[in-house]
Amino acid sequence: MSREVFDKLNGFLNWYQDLYGKEWFVRNGDILAAIRNGEIGLSPLQVFKGRIQDCQKCSLGKTRKNFVFGHGNENADIMFIGEAPGHEEDMKGLPFVGKSGQLLNQMLEKITLKREDVFIANILKCRPPNNRDPLPEEVSTCIPYLHKQIEMVQPKVLIALGRVAAQNLLKSQESLTRLRNRSWQYQNIPLIVTFHPAYILRNMSALDDGVNDLKLAIAQYEKVR
Ligand code: URA
Repeated sequence: MSREVFDKLNGFLNWYQDLYGKEWFVRNGDILAAIRNGEIGLSPLQVFKGRIQDCQKCSLGKTRKNFVFGHGNENADIMFIGEAPGHEEDMKGLPFVGKSGQLLNQMLEKITLKREDVFIANILKCRPPNNRDPLPEEVSTCIPYLHKQIEMVQPKVLIALGRVAAQNLLKSQESLTRLRNRSWQYQNIPLIVTFHPAYILRNMSALDDGVNDLKLAIAQYEKVR
């Protein structure tokens, strides 16, 4: 086997192992499906996106313009979880690109982070009509996608933006007030809860507390990195 063919095969097998895990074995069907679906060379997260982005498991699939998978550094140590896409996000297919997203960017700057450093996803991948709260059955249908994303990104710290994200990740009914100001655990990953940026936009006096929550998250990160 020439060196060139060996390198290509080796690269392919590494990619395959990343996708299917350490205890992998080659099944012809998997390889053929990956080739047919144009998945060769895509990151595991991008392959996952391709496989779920046509989801029609709940009625939001019919009203959405775009499936908002999530975006950012696929190896991020810090992962933000919001509630659900709004109008701008639905239009662009990206999370937190509207007014809330601009505020989130400013908050990130205050802790010397950039969007490219973190991964951002939501509890729901599709916009609820008129930005209503997610329904329990929508959350239970969609949240396995987020669980899988967290498993794939393997962040060192999670930050829940707002009550809906926090309660659903922690399976808790506690108020946001009681969930803030301490570190929780999601699958052994420290999880910090803060305000949703949309709330801060309506109550700018909460901005400093929101930034302090992010500082608490960074302090947790320093402990576990
Ligand atoms: N609000 C959210 O919770 N998520 C977004 O992506 C945008 C606004």
